[in-house]
Amino acid sequence: MAQMTSTITTTTSNQPLLKLDNMSLYFGGVRANHQVTFSMGEGLLYGLIGPNGAGKSTIFNVITGLYTPTSGDVFFQGESIKGRPSYELAKRGIGRTFQNIRLFKELTVLENVMTSFFHQTPGGYGSALFRTDFYSANEKIVREKSLELLELMGLIDNAEEKAQSLPYGKQRKLEMARALGLNPTLLLLDEPAAGLNPSETKELTNLIAKIQKTKKISVLLIEHDMKLVMEICEKIFVLDYGTLIAEGGAAEIQSNPRVIEAYLGVED
Ligand SMILES: Nc1ncnc2c1ncn2[C@@H]1O[C@H](COP(=O)(O)OP(=O)(O)OP(=O)(O)O)[C@@H](O)[C@H]1O
Ligand SMILES: [Mg+2]
Repeated sequence: MAQMTSTITTTTSNQPLLKLDNMSLYFGGVRANHQVTFSMGEGLLYGLIGPNGAGKSTIFNVITGLYTPTSGDVFFQGESIKGRPSYELAKRGIGRTFQNIRLFKELTVLENVMTSFFHQTPGGYGSALFRTDFYSANEKIVREKSLELLELMGLIDNAEEKAQSLPYGKQRKLEMARALGLNPTLLLLDEPAAGLNPSETKELTNLIAKIQKTKKISVLLIEHDMKLVMEICEKIFVLDYGTLIAEGGAAEIQSNPRVIEAYLGVED
């Protein structure tokens, strides 16, 4: 039975979930991304790596509508999303976290997750602000779903604390819970383990792999720890000076001369 279900799911979508097509982004004379082309399928965990300044975060900013490509295009579920606003893309299923944590610091942990759900409700922020009947009826469901996410991320005991009082590692997890509150099809994680110690990093990375599998979403993970990326990602994209220099499985990437050169070139 399980096999049948998975066959049905995969045959309904031959088109990639996400496709960057010859996408370039320049900040004046600075080349952040240059003619990047790659595709992602549904329900897989991908890694995005490259030296500092290679253009990784810029790719996330393009996919989430913060930047419009200078040239080329971006397709999500077969449709061009170039120039679409961030809130629309979030609603369509593209969730993300930021390299520098962005939370509502004065709100509680639970409230932080609850706010992300209102993107999905027909009344949106408006009904939340004016506390319409619709909002009241839904608040209970949103609260329950938010608590489920906090449980999943190991934050349930912190639900009533202010976000700013959480230790750094838990703030990172809360950001991820918020991104999951959007019920994304595609989740972009920008260095979620930055600032964590090795054991916290390992724990968070395993959690990412678990969430990706159980929720059957696609994840694109930017992570500096190569060993972890190699361990958990099914496919890896490598950027250098804004250009995609390699893509493939861990073994292929590790033995790729251009990748070795890119990394050796920055390590003094
Ligand atoms: N808003 C901006 N204005 C001007 N230049 C920018 C801007 N954002 C990024 N850049 C430049 O674009 C290039 C790519 O930056 P990006 O942040 O995407 O790299 P990254 O691979 O995420 O690096 P890191 O590993 O350090 O996070 C860099 O040269 C950076 O200085
Ligand atoms: Mg970055």
